[in-house]
Amino acid sequence: MNIKRLVDLNLKDRRVFIRSDLNVPIQDGKITSPKRILASIPTIKFALQQGASVMVTSHLGRPEEGKFSSEDSLKPVVEFLKNYLDYPVKFISNWVNKPFNVTPGQLTVLENCRFNIGEKHNDEVLAKKYASLTDIFVMDAFGTAHRKEASTYGIAQYADIACAGILFVAELEALEKALFEPSRPMIAIVGGSKVSSKLIILDTLSEKVDQLIVGGGIANTFIKAMGFDIGSSMYEEDLVPAAKKIIDKLVKRSASLPVISDVVCGKKLDANESAIKKNIKDINKDDMIFDLGEDSVNEIVKCIQKAKTIIWNGPIGVFEFAQFSKGTETMTHAIASSDAFSLAGGGDTVAAIEKFNVANDISYISTAGGAFLEFAEGKKLPAIEILEKRF
Ligand code: 3PG
Repeated sequence: MNIKRLVDLNLKDRRVFIRSDLNVPIQDGKITSPKRILASIPTIKFALQQGASVMVTSHLGRPEEGKFSSEDSLKPVVEFLKNYLDYPVKFISNWVNKPFNVTPGQLTVLENCRFNIGEKHNDEVLAKKYASLTDIFVMDAFGTAHRKEASTYGIAQYADIACAGILFVAELEALEKALFEPSRPMIAIVGGSKVSSKLIILDTLSEKVDQLIVGGGIANTFIKAMGFDIGSSMYEEDLVPAAKKIIDKLVKRSASLPVISDVVCGKKLDANESAIKKNIKDINKDDMIFDLGEDSVNEIVKCIQKAKTIIWNGPIGVFEFAQFSKGTETMTHAIASSDAFSLAGGGDTVAAIEKFNVANDISYISTAGGAFLEFAEGKKLPAIEILEKRF
C-alpha cells in the first residue's frame, strides 16, 4: 500500500484535519447505531494523544449545499463524542468563512461538510480553504472513499501532508487481503434485491472466486436464468442474459454456483404471511420466493466450511421476517464458525450480523457500503488514488 500513514507521522503541536465517516443513523435526534463513530475514534484519539490540535469533519446524510438543516447536523455526534472521549470537544458550525482557533489536546468538530457550497463538486477554492486550516490531512472516511468531494479528495491535493488514518488503513488491508491475495478456496456471497445494483461486482467476482453464492432477489434472476419457473417472485427480466453470462463464465473457469434445489415461498411479502417450502421445480404462478430452502442452504454451508476466504455482501432471504430468515441465519452462523478470513460489508449484511449476534466471529466488518462495493468491483476509489499520488 503506497499511502502515507498517520501512525508514522510526528503530530506534536501540528494542526491535524481528519475527514471521518460519521454518517450514522439518527432518529428523533438520537443515534441508533454509533458503529461508524466508534470505528473512527482510534484515529481521533491517536492524534489527540500525540499532542496535535485535532479537527474532525464528516458528512451526515445528503443535505442541500448552502442550507443548514438540523436533521443533518453533526450535533448528536458531538454529544456522543463528548460523553465518550476524555478530551475537551468543541463544535464549530461556520468554519469555512470565519477564523477559529484550535488547541493541542482538544478536539474541534467541524459541522457537516456537505453544508458547504462546493463540497460535493470538489470545488478547488473550497478545497484550498480546507487545506489552509491544517498541517496534516488525514483521510479516515473509508465509507466515503468513492466520492470525489472537497473533503475527501481536493483537500488531499492541497494539504502539506496527506495520509490515511487507522480505520482507512484497516479497511484497505482487509479488502486487499480478501480480494487480491485470497487464500483458496475463495467464495463470495452476494445477496440483496437487485442484480442491477450488483451486476458489476457479480461480474468481477465471477472472474476471481471458486464459488459464487447468490441470494435474495438476485438469486431469483439466476434461478430464472437456469431455466426454472419462479412464479411471481421479484426478478429482473432484462438481466437474465447477464446472469446466464456470469454462470457461463464460472463454468468455464471450473468455478461454480451452488445448486439451488429448494426455496421458501409466500404469496405476498407480509410479516404474517405463511412460509411454504417448495422444490424449485414446483413453483406455482402466484408463489414468491423469499428464502432459500434447507437443502440449498446446506449446499451453501458446505461451501462455507471448505472456504479459506469469504466475501459477504447481502442476505440470502427476507431475514427481517422470522419465517423467511432461516436461510440467512444458518448461513450467518456457518460464516461465524468458519476459520476462513471472512470479510463482510453493506448495510443489510451488518444488520444480519447484528440480528444473529455474531459480530465478534467475523474477521472484518467494513464500515462502508457503496465504497465497499466499488472497491470489490475493481474500481480505483478517488480517495485512494489521491493518497497514492501524494505518497
Ligand atoms: C455511506 O453511508 O455509504 C457513506 O457514508 C457514504 O454516504 P453517501 O453515499 O451519501 O456519499
